[in-house]
Amino acid sequence: MGTQQRVLSGVQPTGNLHLGNYLGAIRNWVEIQHQYDNYFCVVDLHAITVPHNPAILAGDTYGIAALYLACGIDLQHSTIFIQSHVPAHCELTWLLNCITPLNWLEDMIQFKEKAVKQGENVGVGLLDYPVLMAADILLYQADKVPVGEDQKQHLELTRDIVNRFNHQFAKQDEPVLKLPDPLIRKEGARVMSLTDGTKKMSKSDPSELSRINLLDSADEITKKIKRCKTDPVRGLTFDDAERPECNNLLTLYMLLSGKTKAEVAAECEDMGWGQFKPLLTETTIAALKPIQEKYHQIMADKGYLESVLRDGREKAEDIAKQTLIQVKAAMGYSMPL
Ligand code: AMP
Ligand code: TRP
Repeated sequence: MGTQQRVLSGVQPTGNLHLGNYLGAIRNWVEIQHQYDNYFCVVDLHAITVPHNPAILAGDTYGIAALYLACGIDLQHSTIFIQSHVPAHCELTWLLNCITPLNWLEDMIQFKEKAVKQGENVGVGLLDYPVLMAADILLYQADKVPVGEDQKQHLELTRDIVNRFNHQFAKQDEPVLKLPDPLIRKEGARVMSLTDGTKKMSKSDPSELSRINLLDSADEITKKIKRCKTDPVRGLTFDDAERPECNNLLTLYMLLSGKTKAEVAAECEDMGWGQFKPLLTETTIAALKPIQEKYHQIMADKGYLESVLRDGREKAEDIAKQTLIQVKAAMGYSMPL
């Protein structure tokens, strides 16, 4: 284990996971997990950077952890834990806050987009979100961070923080924090909305019809695909900039069926939407069915899920504490007596 590279990633427990989260992130975690020593957290501290409902936070957090398992995260290779269970995440965030220039955070696209929606009420936590994310990654000295395309800028910020920290506080050639690399796969890195092929599929889109959730019933999936936006052109092709919906739906079909791009291109080149939509519907339902069954099984056994998360917290905390000690020593803190 010691020689393996480490992976860390996470998803926020805000609402249902959708196909973008699955195809852009979790499915990739599952595929690469055997090559790495993996830490996957449910980032519930990030979930409160926009207004949240305390009555459902804990339940949603457990639900996401169960979905990680249901999607195929394997505890032989991976550790699953909840961010707020490891206090070092908050502590490192504070230390990193004090070396992060304000204007780096003000430049973040996600902050600007989300801040507009909050208006006058935008909280400091939303601005600080990327520093907390950097702390998540750096505490585990992660080598690789598998995420969707939208997180690329946050990863670049994390790298800037590492360089600044090491430059200010570490001896040359003895870095305290490791420089992580993003792992962003081309296919699925940006799953688009079903109602507008130029916008990404998102938990925060007010229209439920814009996304397929991993726990949607067969009826809901059928309805959403039936109503999804298409175009009047016959014959379906990838990569036509004039046809973003067509490219997105073909990509979904390719990823969910496990077929290659060439196979899908050949299969669909003469199809109309009337023939393609039922095919995509059937493929989506079949791909999600085993995940849904496993999810319900896990959720019915709360004791099991709790034991997974307890073990996860212990393992995560051991590593996180070590990094925190090194960071504090480098910054000149005395250790508690
Ligand atoms: P979030 O829902 O913001 O917590 O995102 C969790 C993970 O899903 C991150 O790695 C995101 O990059 C990824 N993700 C979210 N939306 C999409 C999307 N529409 N397409 C691809 N990946 C996505
Ligand atoms: N910001 C990420 C998102 O919204 C979630 C996240 C938080 C994360 N901490 C992380 C992803 C650490 C990777 C690594 O998608």
